[in-house]
Amino acid sequence: MTVSKLLIDEQLDTIDPLRHLLQDSDGLDVADIVPAQPPSIHNQTLDLSFVSSLNGVPNPIVIKLAVDASPGCGGIAWPAGEVLSAYISRRGSLQGKNVLELGSGTGLVGLVAGTLGAHVWITDQAPLLDIMNCNVEMNTLSERVKVLEFNWGSPIPESLPSLHIILAADCVYFEPAFPLLVQTLTELAIANEAEILFCYKKRRKADKRFFTLLKKVFTWEEVTDDPNQAIYSKEAISLLRLMRRRK
Ligand SMILES: C[S@@+](CC[C@H](N)C(=O)[O-])C[C@H]1O[C@@H](n2cnc3c(N)ncnc32)[C@H](O)[C@@H]1O
Repeated sequence: MTVSKLLIDEQLDTIDPLRHLLQDSDGLDVADIVPAQPPSIHNQTLDLSFVSSLNGVPNPIVIKLAVDASPGCGGIAWPAGEVLSAYISRRGSLQGKNVLELGSGTGLVGLVAGTLGAHVWITDQAPLLDIMNCNVEMNTLSERVKVLEFNWGSPIPESLPSLHIILAADCVYFEPAFPLLVQTLTELAIANEAEILFCYKKRRKADKRFFTLLKKVFTWEEVTDDPNQAIYSKEAISLLRLMRRRK
């Protein structure tokens, strides 16, 4: 993309930040970006199950998930969230771990982490907090899963403890937020020796700009111990482990 095309894109983003959801510069339309869901998603409940085992005995995890598109795009179930949920379920117990999820939307990934025994903080912007709280209650996880407002680029909430795992799924889709997300990931990586699992679905060429920013601070590797990888990579989904560059 030429510099002038980039400048025009950025100006159009300022005028209408969501324009790419209607007609994408890569020629995609909304059906290519938003995952397939029932036509009108309003106060529905899904049952999502994930393979897991306890002491070698199969112990599937079932999450009841309220979905509702009215508080924003995060109120529905996104494909990378399901991939990341399936991966952590398969890995097994998170007993004794402190886990933070960024851009949780419905809270799915964090709810799975809580079911696996972790203490979890699911976070997002204010309009999503009600649906996250509803999902925590519906899965009787309020002892272990806390809901917190956390806007990327804001200071790390003081109530967070030292973290073992940081999770983010399907958080690369809105260009003005790219630098904010990189800033938050950087601050969290400096403050915690945490494993960062970042699940991403490629939709647009412009996503490259996120990785250009990310590369300044992080290196990453594809997670290889996931038997589902061959399936989701066909849908352009990658599960990455981010590592902060050391000077
Ligand atoms: C595509 S949704 C993915 C939701 C969920 N992780 C999943 O996989 O189902 C992206 C989420 O990022 C959140 N988000 C976007 N910009 C944000 C920001 N600046 N600060 C915090 N969260 C943000 C949105 O509210 C939304 O819930």
